[in-house]
Amino acid sequence: MMQVPCRPMHLGIRNEQSATENRVAAPPITVTAFIELGFDVTVESGAGGGAGFDDASFVDAGATVVENLADGPPLDLLVRISPPTSSDREILADGSVVVGLIDPTANADMLSRWGVDGITSLSMEMLPRSTLAQSMDALSSQATSAGYAAVLLGVTTLRRFMPMLVTAAGTIPPSNVLILGVGVAGLQAIATAKRLGAVVYAYDIRPETKEQVESLGGRFVEAPTMKMDEGGYARALDEETELAQKAALASAVEAADLIITTAQVPGRKAPRLISSEMVRAMKPGSVIIDMASSSGGNVEGSRPDETVEVAGVQIMGPTDLASRVATDSSRMFGRNVAELVKRMVTDGSMAVDYDDPVVGPTIVAPQRDGET
Ligand code: NAI
Repeated sequence: MMQVPCRPMHLGIRNEQSATENRVAAPPITVTAFIELGFDVTVESGAGGGAGFDDASFVDAGATVVENLADGPPLDLLVRISPPTSSDREILADGSVVVGLIDPTANADMLSRWGVDGITSLSMEMLPRSTLAQSMDALSSQATSAGYAAVLLGVTTLRRFMPMLVTAAGTIPPSNVLILGVGVAGLQAIATAKRLGAVVYAYDIRPETKEQVESLGGRFVEAPTMKMDEGGYARALDEETELAQKAALASAVEAADLIITTAQVPGRKAPRLISSEMVRAMKPGSVIIDMASSSGGNVEGSRPDETVEVAGVQIMGPTDLASRVATDSSRMFGRNVAELVKRMVTDGSMAVDYDDPVVGPTIVAPQRDGET
């Protein structure tokens, strides 16, 4: 068990705004929750700008606003929505805690160096997908935002109506939307496309998703399915199953006006579900949003944060989808992180319990032996 030694506890919120990031790790309502837990909260000026929360709203919530967190006291707790950077080290007190979507694999070296300095990093990506941790599940909250935003991006790029329209100028058939990968993002994409009036088809390798697709009014594409691993995640497919899957998906891909792909296998390259040949069979003007572009891509030729055109089909690989609905993404993330922090605070003092079933699995870089 690691205990934060000093009182009051200082919590910091960075201005993480960039070309692809509008979110803030904690909106004013979460600041209030942190203050109630016993933290003094310092926020960098402009931190909430892209999410619609100005500096005054943080002050009203009880925070101190500074130009740079380096101007404030050393932090006991830094909350982040995007991964920390090396410059965060200088604002962290010895024995402090960093929590957020910290991309533990990409930042392993830096976080373990910080661990040697006594800084504990908690990865919200590594929270167990359990009922106990549901209110803290930031992967789910941000995937919900991303699935929603993907459909809206696709709809505004596509030059077609979603619903069937019967007008004096003729009857316009509805658009066909195909969702590949029915996890949290895929389910939200199905629900959003249905609300807009599209005919929605969907497919996932996990057999139990058929019922989920149908309960949202979608039609399940009959392609191979297989059991998941113990953690509830999909596994990588063998070559034979992958070929059978592509063959079964080909006609659904060809018929689609808009495709959203969300398929991921944790710790592995994303599965390739759509080949260039399948794209070339689609109608010119169709749109594909590849939500897995940054982990290898579900669609051949897709590139992160670019739009690639193949035979008149636009293949988009946005990596900032949750940030496009920054206000609500920040609200949900703030709630997730506050619930996790609440679990570590008792009577105004914070402790990281290595044996806690929720907190324990998130620990990336613990303190040195002898300090725990
Ligand atoms: P993810 O982002 O890891 O993957 C998205 C989807 O891609 C998954 O549904 C996966 O089955 C699918 N996929 C992977 N390979 C595929 C392939 N070759 N072809 C077609 N589809 C493929 O998934 P997410 O949204 O993070 O959910 C992962 C698991 O965790 C799911 O089983 C989900 O139900 C579960 N979960 C449980 C929660 C809880 O109990 N609190 C909360 C959220 C998710």
